[in-house]
Amino acid sequence: MENFIYSIPTTAYFGKGQINILGDTIKAHGGSKVLLAYGGGSIKQNGIYGAILDQLAQAGLAHVELSGIQPNPRVESVEEGIEIYRTNGCDFILAVGGGSTLDACKVIAAGVKYDGPVNDLFRGGPGADLKAAAPLATVLTMAGTGSEMDMGAVITVGKDHKKKVLMHPLVNPKFSILDPEYTYTVPEYHSMAGVADILCHLMEQYFTPESGANVQDRMNEGFMKSVLEEAPKILANPEDYDARANIMWASSMALAGFQLLLGKPMSAFPLHSMGHELSSKYDMTHGVTLALLTPAWMRHTMASAPAYLPLFARFARNVMDLREEDDAKAAEAGVQKLEAFYGAIKMPASLREAGVREEDLDLIAGKAVEDGNVGILTPLGKDEVLQILRAAF
Ligand code: NZQ
Ligand code: ZN
Repeated sequence: MENFIYSIPTTAYFGKGQINILGDTIKAHGGSKVLLAYGGGSIKQNGIYGAILDQLAQAGLAHVELSGIQPNPRVESVEEGIEIYRTNGCDFILAVGGGSTLDACKVIAAGVKYDGPVNDLFRGGPGADLKAAAPLATVLTMAGTGSEMDMGAVITVGKDHKKKVLMHPLVNPKFSILDPEYTYTVPEYHSMAGVADILCHLMEQYFTPESGANVQDRMNEGFMKSVLEEAPKILANPEDYDARANIMWASSMALAGFQLLLGKPMSAFPLHSMGHELSSKYDMTHGVTLALLTPAWMRHTMASAPAYLPLFARFARNVMDLREEDDAKAAEAGVQKLEAFYGAIKMPASLREAGVREEDLDLIAGKAVEDGNVGILTPLGKDEVLQILRAAF
């Protein structure tokens, strides 16, 4: 196991009614004028907005608003938020929503402390090594991305809608309120896309070269099994509290401090690197892109690097509960069972079914490797990514 640092600077307030700590806790973190940011308005329909305004008022906190942050959030929303924050002399940011709103707010938090274009702040840019960020808290309304407990943000930039990543511990939220009841109103499609996203975060950290990190992998297997067990309960009853609670906590734990990747080699998260390009091209829902690509990526890896068959067989046995002695057979059966799960949670079965055009595959493959090889178990350059896209098509 390699050396590592483990740090999760975000406090989680988990469960029913935790909104009641919001106002006082913002004040305890020095907030007096809050930039309240949200998405397309779901929080106004399900009562969350009213609860937040009550909390801000009770604590005597002034606020201004940024609304309309879209899924696959655009850099223009970030720029608008920075402008509102500065013009109104804000000192705290409150993000209320799913990963898109949270991510936009993380970049706003970095941007208000940076004297230069937002674009500088993304990975590889001159401002990526942040010196400061405004304090940020979140009220999560949809489980999936893990943004509520992590240091990442993904923003869509430019005419070609490139998804760019900001990654820095200074944008970890100070605290996050995680009330599973707030996710009851998430539409089925987005609930299940969130499930696919959580599962993929877990798999991206599980399918890595042997490192001796058995504790991390055993924890990961437990998380993956729980997600597989709990998701169908949400389909059957969107107001199943414990199912929503387990999925919400799995979302937060999957990426918190990258705890399941600790002691392992760094990964470019190959499925995410490829999936982001589908979102860029077609504005496709993040979790759906991952469900579409995962089986094809698994088969590609198993075929091109048979040395990893035991790892895929371990997944089949320990996560998918398959009893097959032969590694190759077990590995393939595991992929098939995963495909059946994606079908059961109503993910599209192929890129074609999801609206991808065959003539775009070459371009998408090229963009996925723009910053270099994205493989972890095997090298993934343009040719290999194209093979995976074709298989998923
Ligand atoms: O905008 P509103 O009206 O709120 O509606 C949203 C949106 O339409 C709706 N929704 C959310 N909570 C709801 C609700 N509708 C009813 N009731 C509720 N309680 O759900 C829709 C999707 O929301 P969005 O925030 O886009 O979804 P998600 O949480 O999946 O976020 C996706 C974004 O996060 C990025 C993705 O790339 C994508 O841009 N990611 C961020 C990561 C991170 N920060 O670490 C990691 C991930 O891998 C991912 O890349
Ligand atoms: Zn993801």
